[in-house]
Amino acid sequence: MDFKEKLRDNQELVNKELNKYLIKENLPERTLNEAIEYSLMSSAKRLRPTLIIETYKLFKDDYERCLPFAVSMEITHTFSLIHDDLPGIDNDDYRRGRLTIHKKYNEATAILAGDSLMNHAYMIIAEEINNSKEIDDIKRKIRILNEFSHAIDEMIIGEYLDTECEGKQISKEELDYIHNKKTASFFKYCVRSGAILAGASEKDIDNLTLYAEKIGLEFQIKDDILSEIGDSKIMGKPVGNDKAMNKVTYVTKFGVEKAQGYLENTTNEALRTLEAYGNKAEFLRELAIYIKDRNH
Ligand code: IPE
Ligand code: IPE
Ligand code: MG
Ligand code: MG
Repeated sequence: MDFKEKLRDNQELVNKELNKYLIKENLPERTLNEAIEYSLMSSAKRLRPTLIIETYKLFKDDYERCLPFAVSMEITHTFSLIHDDLPGIDNDDYRRGRLTIHKKYNEATAILAGDSLMNHAYMIIAEEINNSKEIDDIKRKIRILNEFSHAIDEMIIGEYLDTECEGKQISKEELDYIHNKKTASFFKYCVRSGAILAGASEKDIDNLTLYAEKIGLEFQIKDDILSEIGDSKIMGKPVGNDKAMNKVTYVTKFGVEKAQGYLENTTNEALRTLEAYGNKAEFLRELAIYIKDRNH
């Protein structure tokens, strides 16, 4: 099976799992639940849950154990996008190929759908821990919960700084700090949670964290490039919005060509972190290349 097929399989698996958590009953709050489904079940790449599953598979085969964590990650990522698009943050009208939730419904629904998703992500992890019996397994899952909360904290800090720095001059170090917080934090959590759950060594967890830090930065540099020269129809979200909002990005600071150079270097750095893993890490290797070459 090639990389694209494996990615598609993971996307289907995650979509199937997400479906199980949708609330379809005819309740007074059904519009909130519909709005949540609208945001969640759209054309998303599902890269973060895939990263949890594929990191786990480096060490063990029974990847079904990752699914609650994979689902809670995708739910959290969707929450972050809903709030990122709000008028008070990026003020975007399109996401995942359709109107943003605040445009389709209204701002109150978008804010509360985000809050609900965030809370549900914690509920899923809490339930998973509550249902676990073996003490080492429980310890690992509590460690994951702890890391999960820290990753979200970092994302929020990154989002705050990203908004706060609009129109300002900042150094490359400060820009990297923002990208690391707002984007790489989730990628790091994904590899760490997959590795921790599989019982990987601390050395492997640290090494894979470095890989994730690199692909996280790579992912955001590519997002910056696509915001300048991408095709909004393919991406399902606007082009030119970073410039319009006076965002500091790799492109607005250095230009497309130099940003492309940074993208190549960061990808190569990510690939180097996987050298010790041989064929087993083929998917993670291809993922780094996919992130660099993607057009959406
Ligand atoms: C977009 O993430 C947000 C960033 C961190 C740049 P993705 O490009 O993974 O979005 P979806 O989940 O596929 O819509
Ligand atoms: C979104 O970053 C990152 C998070 C929500 C954490 P951006 O604002 O750069 O991403 P897009 O371009 O809207 O997807
Ligand atoms: Mg943003
Ligand atoms: Mg945005």
